[in-house]
Amino acid sequence: MRILGIETSCDETSAAVVEETGDAAKPWAIRSNIVASQVAIHREWGGVVPELASRQHIRDICGVVERALSEAGSTWTDLGAVAVTQGPGLVGSLLVGVSFAKAAAAAAGLPLVAVHHLAGHIESLVLHNGELPLPAVVLVVSGGHTNLYLVERAGSYQLLSRTRDDAAGEAYDKVAKLLGLGYPGGPVIDRLAASGDDRAIALPTTRLTHADRNAPQLKGDLDFSFSGLKTAVLRHVQIRTDVAQAGLAAQGLSPALSDKEIADIAASFQRVVVTALVERLFTAARRYGAKSVGVAGGVSANSRLRADLKVRGEQREIPTFLPSLALSTDNAAMIAAAGLRKFRAGQTASFAHG
Ligand code: KG4
Ligand code: ZN
Repeated sequence: MRILGIETSCDETSAAVVEETGDAAKPWAIRSNIVASQVAIHREWGGVVPELASRQHIRDICGVVERALSEAGSTWTDLGAVAVTQGPGLVGSLLVGVSFAKAAAAAAGLPLVAVHHLAGHIESLVLHNGELPLPAVVLVVSGGHTNLYLVERAGSYQLLSRTRDDAAGEAYDKVAKLLGLGYPGGPVIDRLAASGDDRAIALPTTRLTHADRNAPQLKGDLDFSFSGLKTAVLRHVQIRTDVAQAGLAAQGLSPALSDKEIADIAASFQRVVVTALVERLFTAARRYGAKSVGVAGGVSANSRLRADLKVRGEQREIPTFLPSLALSTDNAAMIAAAGLRKFRAGQTASFAHG
C-alpha cells in the first residue's frame, strides 16, 4: 500500500509518497519526498513569521503534492490513505495542510490519518534504518522541542522528559541571531564551530534535579534547559563588545567580534548543548534498559551531535540511530511513515471539524 504524507506545521511545505515493503524489519520505502522551504522568506525577518508562513503554504501546497505524486509515479487511485500533520505547530500553517488533506482524501474516497509531528520525527529513524531494537530511548530535538521518549513497542511513545524553556534548536537560532549570523542558526553555527576552540569560553551547563511544577508526573532530572546558556552567550558578547567599544571607538574602529571569536563562541556553545543532549540520552538509556538509542529532529543534522552520539554508543556498547540529513529536518516522508504505522493500528481520523 502507498500513502500520501503532508506536512505544513512550520516553514516547510512538504508532500511525500511512502510505500509498504512487506519486510517487517524495514517496513517502508520512500517513493518521493518533496520539500518547498520558506527559509528565504523568513530569513529577512530573522525568524518564522506565522502569517507569511500560512500564506506561502497556500501558494505551494497544490504544486508540492502534484510533484510528490508524479515523482512517485502515483495517482490518487493507487493510494491507500492520506496522512497529515495535525500538530503541534503554527496553527495557521497546520490548517492549510489539514484542510488540503481532508478535502483531497474526501474527494478521492481515501481514509485520513492524523499524525503528531513528533511521532513523525521518531518514525524518521525507522524509515531510514528499519525497526529499532526495543525498548529504545529516542531524543527528538528540533526548533520547537527537546523531548526524550521511551519506545517500548513500535508506535508507542512515552514522554520521559523535555526542555523547561528553550528547545535546543531555538537556542541555536537565538545565539546565531545575537551573533549576527542570520536564520536558521543551527547549520551556520555547526559550520563555524568546526574552526573554533570549544573550550575558549566557559559557559554554564544546567542540570535539573527537581520535578517541574508544570509536569509533576515526570521525575525532572532528565529535563533540559537552554535559556541560561543563551543568556550567558549574550552576556559574553555584550561584555566583549562593551570593552571593545571603549577601546576602539576613539580610534574610529568597529567593536565587531572577529571571525575567530565568533567561531570560538559557536564551538563553546555547541559543546555545552551537545554534551547535555548526549548525557541525558544515555542516562535515560541506562535507566530504562534501552537496547538502542536514536536522535531525530532538525538538530540531529548537527555534525558534532552525530559524531558524539556514535562515540558514546560505541563506549556504552549500545546501537545508535540517526535519520539521513534529508529526513532530519521537517519533511512529509516521516509523516507518511508514522501515518502508515497508525493506519495499520486502525487509527484513522474523522472528516468532521474539531
Ligand atoms: O525539525 P525541524 O526542521 O523543525 C521543527 O520541527 O522545529 O528543526 C529545525 C531546527 C532549527 O532550530 C534549526 O536551527 C535546527 O533545527 N538545525 C540545526 C542544524 N540544522 C538544523 N541545529 C544544529 N545543527 C544543525 N546542523
Ligand atoms: Zn520538526
